[in-house]
Amino acid sequence: MFTKEIYIARRALLKQKVGDGLILLFGNNDSPNNYPANTYRFRQDSNFLYYFGLRREGLVGVIDIDNDKEYIFGDDIDIDDIIWYGFVPSVKELAEDVGVSSSAPTSQLKVIIDSAIAQKRKIHFVPQCRHDLMIQLSDLIGIHPLSTKENASVKLIKTIVEMRAIKKPEEIAELKDAAEIGYLMHTAAMKTCRPGVSEKYVAGIIEGIAMSLGDRYSFQSILSMHGEIQHGYPSHTPMEAGRLMLCDAGAESKENYCSDNTRVTPISGTFTSMQRDIYAAVESAHDWVIENAKPGVKWLDMHLGACTIITEHLKAIGLMKGNTEDAVRAGAHAMFMPHGLGHMMGMDVHDMEGLGQNYVGFDDEVQPSTQFGLNCLRCGRRLQKGFVMTDEPGVYFIPHLIDLWKSQGMHKDFINYDSVEPFRDFGGIRLEDDIIITENGCEIVGDKIIPYHINDVEEYIKNNK
Ligand code: GLY
Ligand code: MN
Repeated sequence: MFTKEIYIARRALLKQKVGDGLILLFGNNDSPNNYPANTYRFRQDSNFLYYFGLRREGLVGVIDIDNDKEYIFGDDIDIDDIIWYGFVPSVKELAEDVGVSSSAPTSQLKVIIDSAIAQKRKIHFVPQCRHDLMIQLSDLIGIHPLSTKENASVKLIKTIVEMRAIKKPEEIAELKDAAEIGYLMHTAAMKTCRPGVSEKYVAGIIEGIAMSLGDRYSFQSILSMHGEIQHGYPSHTPMEAGRLMLCDAGAESKENYCSDNTRVTPISGTFTSMQRDIYAAVESAHDWVIENAKPGVKWLDMHLGACTIITEHLKAIGLMKGNTEDAVRAGAHAMFMPHGLGHMMGMDVHDMEGLGQNYVGFDDEVQPSTQFGLNCLRCGRRLQKGFVMTDEPGVYFIPHLIDLWKSQGMHKDFINYDSVEPFRDFGGIRLEDDIIITENGCEIVGDKIIPYHINDVEEYIKNNK
């Protein structure tokens, strides 16, 4: 937990910006896996964590702006809980730890909410992604459980996005801790990767590092010889010489700030010339973004710039043709890179995505696109100092997509389908680093950069087998 003063100051600013009404922020409940006592590992809700800092399950925070009062609602443990889980402080003590003066049992929450509804006061809440909380909210305020998104407070959402988007020094320190763990995870993957070892074995090693050194891994690791599958989860299949292992994984620091990196390792230890050509396209796009991202620049333009570089490279090796600008405008490159350049990152690996992507990544100036590929860009708006973004261009050969586009004659003026054929079984390459926007540019989060230049990767593998 950060100091109590940090949470007090965050809530004071939230109150001031939202202006009036009552803010209701749910903490998460324990979530059963296959029976009630066998739960998924508890993870606190990020908004609750940001404003209240408490990690216990079953808590609800209320900020009554009109009466300048704050509450934590939750139930104290009983002797059965103590026997099974040990003693924990009371809800009152927890509330005091984060500067909240009032606490009450969960049953009292309805009394406060009923009274606010009777007074026709505004109740601000955010969309819920967990079904138990949808039901809890429905029960409290009488909306349909599936309508929390439509009924959520835009004022509250926009204020939270404004505050959480700019990372403060104490948050950057946590992001650096997560990056340090991410470095250890990815270098361990590079060391462990070899023919005959299964994808799942490598994933287990790196997830163990995240669990041992931080709070946990920041998302289910993507680790596969089939890098062309965007979320390709690891299997028991032994890895094959000559192929590539794509590893997209990260850690959460002790305070639940994330890292998210992708590296591609040649399973034999060295890249083939075909792999080098594709790798070079992705590497150039990745590095161009780091050279050009700065306050005031639109992330949409970083995305389009990266796509332009990739298109130029693919033209140079004969996979694409025609005018580069026209090809990118038409979205022809999206057969090779069907996703966005990157997303905000913080306490959520896709930071604040649960609040609604339009509020997080877009504004009146930059609106989301419906074009294939560009529609997966999670942020387009202008960068600000303190934003943390992922820079993650990639090139993939997705056989089903190639066949579909070829059969439809899609963008045939820009794609040399015959030249693409030898790449059908290539897989995919993505390179991902987390960057923080500084006064005049950006820098990669963390003190150590996971090797990614082609020769550095081969050298690292050679020296660490
Ligand atoms: N690194 C996983 C993702 O961005 O979806
Ligand atoms: Mn990512």
